[in-house]
Amino acid sequence: MEEAARAGRTLLGKRLLVTGGSRGIGRGIVLAAARAGADVVTCYRTPGEAVASLEQELARTPGKHQVVRADAADPAEVNRLVAECEASLDGLDAVVNNAGSFLPRPYAELEPEEWDATLRGNLTAAHLVTRRTLPLLGAGSSIVNIGSTVAFLGMAGGVHYTAVKSALVGMTRSLARELGPQGIRVNTVSPGRIATEALDEQPAEAAERERRMFSSFTALGRLGTVDDIARTVLFLVSDHAAYITGQNIHVDGCV
Ligand SMILES: NC(=O)c1ccc[n+]([C@@H]2O[C@H](COP(=O)([O-])OP(=O)(O)OC[C@H]3O[C@@H](n4cnc5c(N)ncnc54)[C@H](OP(=O)(O)O)[C@@H]3O)[C@@H](O)[C@H]2O)c1
Repeated sequence: MEEAARAGRTLLGKRLLVTGGSRGIGRGIVLAAARAGADVVTCYRTPGEAVASLEQELARTPGKHQVVRADAADPAEVNRLVAECEASLDGLDAVVNNAGSFLPRPYAELEPEEWDATLRGNLTAAHLVTRRTLPLLGAGSSIVNIGSTVAFLGMAGGVHYTAVKSALVGMTRSLARELGPQGIRVNTVSPGRIATEALDEQPAEAAERERRMFSSFTALGRLGTVDDIARTVLFLVSDHAAYITGQNIHVDGCV
């Protein structure tokens, strides 16, 4: 009976920090990891219904889980977030740098503040969290950075975003070399267009148009789901991926 209950709990005993877990891909990773048996800490910036429902779902899921209000791009808040991980989990086995944001803007109209915000929110945040969590990570642990397939394709209106997501790939590769001797693995997961709540919240016609257009770009003829990304992240942080480091995995249905 106990064996059956454990079936599928591939992350039993693992301790994860996932940034940006209240919505979208991060939320999918948090819930999938908790259901796979991990203890999970996550963070967000904006309180609301999404945070409350995540806390409720995690309360129903076995394990020690915590949802912390902390901006991953703010050094003082990252210190507080990681201190919470130390206090509640006494270390970490995996860090998933998922928090990120993007506002499309034609390059000719891109203001310095928008460039800085994109850099801070998508790259500096990953650096701050990784640097601060390093003392909590030991041999066998791993880091996953969430990039984006568009960093490899290019995107009109996304020069700032694709520049920083490309930088994440370089950061991953160098960190893999630097941390490999300590037994710490580092990988990037680059999603294609993923159907999240943000898409559902658009006016129905616009959402349908976007769904059709992005689906047509893929070999599989559909958008990705948060579970497509979560399953890949769970594999990468699991012991099944013990010899995989420094890699970028496209989860994009082949665009
Ligand atoms: N969705 C896609 O199609 C897609 C495709 C390729 C790559 N990605 C990447 O996947 C990641 C997640 O994207 P998503 O579409 O799921 O985004 P989303 O729906 O906007 O959700 C982002 C989550 O991260 C939180 N967050 C954002 N910035 C944060 C910060 N500085 N500190 C703490 N929490 C923060 C948000 O909450 P608050 O706003 O309350 O902080 C929210 O919970 C991003 O790195 C994105 O670039 C997404």
